[in-house]
Amino acid sequence: MRLTIVAATGGIGRQLLLQAVDAGHDVTAVARSPEKITAPVRTAYADLAHPDLPALTEAIKGSDAVLSGLGARTTSEAGVATRGTAALIEAARRVGVRRLIVVSAAPIGTLPSPARPHPPRHDPGDGFFMRHLGVPFTHRMFREHYADLAEMEDAVRASGLDWTISRPPRLTDKPLSGRYRTAVDRNVRGGLTASRADVAHQMLACLEQPETIGHTIGVAK
Ligand SMILES: NC(=O)c1ccc[n+]([C@@H]2O[C@H](COP(=O)([O-])OP(=O)(O)OC[C@H]3O[C@@H](n4cnc5c(N)ncnc54)[C@H](OP(=O)(O)O)[C@@H]3O)[C@@H](O)[C@H]2O)c1
Repeated sequence: MRLTIVAATGGIGRQLLLQAVDAGHDVTAVARSPEKITAPVRTAYADLAHPDLPALTEAIKGSDAVLSGLGARTTSEAGVATRGTAALIEAARRVGVRRLIVVSAAPIGTLPSPARPHPPRHDPGDGFFMRHLGVPFTHRMFREHYADLAEMEDAVRASGLDWTISRPPRLTDKPLSGRYRTAVDRNVRGGLTASRADVAHQMLACLEQPETIGHTIGVAK
């Protein structure tokens, strides 16, 4: 397939790129530091805090799917997931690219956002510990990051594209195992971690799973 991989220098983005190239996909890698990309792929520059729509449109044109590992590296950069993903959506629409797969986070399903002011109090996949300790703690701890991801999810859901949102819990740098669990529109029960490599694997697997279109997918070890 022809894929555009966005934020291809990040933890998940690098894994998306490596695994996509290994699988024989034809990849365009989009990054704000494309010089860091050593894989033999086309590259494109994009600072997604200040998106250049014509350049993004050019990078995405002709792709079968866009996969994004975009997220704020620091609290002060929060907002980039929303702004950058909104630009990706607009660029994809302009050139008729329909498939979009992005990464969010497990606690976002219960976080209010402008389009979902009254989300469920608890995620059906979360057990006692996550409901009463883990989720309230992370909502406070990562307030700005999560508000950004929640608003990004709003934009993705409203995009009219064939979208899938991947929602992992705490990320690790463990190697690809391919042994992870998924859950549709809920978190994985008892799933406390996921490796970035496994999340990338799950996002790429969605390309062959049309049943994931229009859904959030919990992914965890
Ligand atoms: N940490 C966790 O435990 C956890 C758990 C669940 C979900 N998440 C979420 O999962 C997502 C991905 O995680 P990760 O560990 O792969 O994140 P990461 O390593 O911090 O990667 C973030 C990516 O976004 C890119 N980016 C940030 N600002 C940009 C800008 N202005 N223009 C272009 N690219 C920009 C970064 O580019 P550079 O490489 O140039 O900096 C990097 O490629 C994040 O949204 C994170 O919040 C994290």
